[in-house]
Amino acid sequence: MDRNEAVLRELNLYPQWVRRNPPAPEVFLAVRPEPVEGHVLVADVVRQAHHERPNEQSGLNNDHANLPVVAPASQADNLGWPELKQQVRDCTACKLRAGCTQTVFGVGDEQADWLVVGEGPGADEDARGEPFVGEAGKLLDNMLLSIKLKRGKNVYIANIVKCHPPGNRTPEADEIAACLPYLQRQIELIKPKLIVALGKTAATALLGRDAALGSLRGTLHDYRGVPLLVTYHPAYLLRSPMEKAKAWQDLCFAVDAMQKL
Ligand code: URA
Repeated sequence: MDRNEAVLRELNLYPQWVRRNPPAPEVFLAVRPEPVEGHVLVADVVRQAHHERPNEQSGLNNDHANLPVVAPASQADNLGWPELKQQVRDCTACKLRAGCTQTVFGVGDEQADWLVVGEGPGADEDARGEPFVGEAGKLLDNMLLSIKLKRGKNVYIANIVKCHPPGNRTPEADEIAACLPYLQRQIELIKPKLIVALGKTAATALLGRDAALGSLRGTLHDYRGVPLLVTYHPAYLLRSPMEKAKAWQDLCFAVDAMQKL
């Protein structure tokens, strides 16, 4: 069995699957498939946060122009990095702050081409003050490595909410609505070429519409003029390692898209 065949077997893609992308590097496959608690990808609450009108959604989405501006959006508008960081540190706009150790602002290259957006800090991130430092973070780092990216170098990593939701629950609509303006301002400051939304909560919050994650994959969406694509959350991939093959396809799609931007 040659190496490629071994990798395809590992992915459960052999022999039926006709490979279009190069096989996923081992660094992506190597992470232990340990279950991560929480991260039930429930997105309805996120849709509510945007007051979405389900029947009016279609195709490429840039409905954010029409979304209601919620507190503390006006407070984040026009802030520079230091002020924005301070604003987030001081934020008490939703109930999450009372239950977390610290806010988790985001990490990485503030002029990155790549912006990766997760859901919200877990317990490890809450303790460290940095996104994606737990098991899901290790997998994310390996996913990035598989496309020759490294945390901190041309990549910025952030979350939809900046405070750890208790028990790792999905952030609620009001919490997302309160926090999203901070991410919006981060995006304005970073000016990424491409946003990678990890999981349904991030996708729904950024696209402002609820749809099955699978139906959002493989398409370049639009977030306020920035191309956005959707893939699986690493925590989900830890629970469902068989889906890593699809995530690898998404990463190849992302690299391809980036090369054309
Ligand atoms: N999951 C997320 O969505 N974000 C993190 O920072 C960690 C785990």
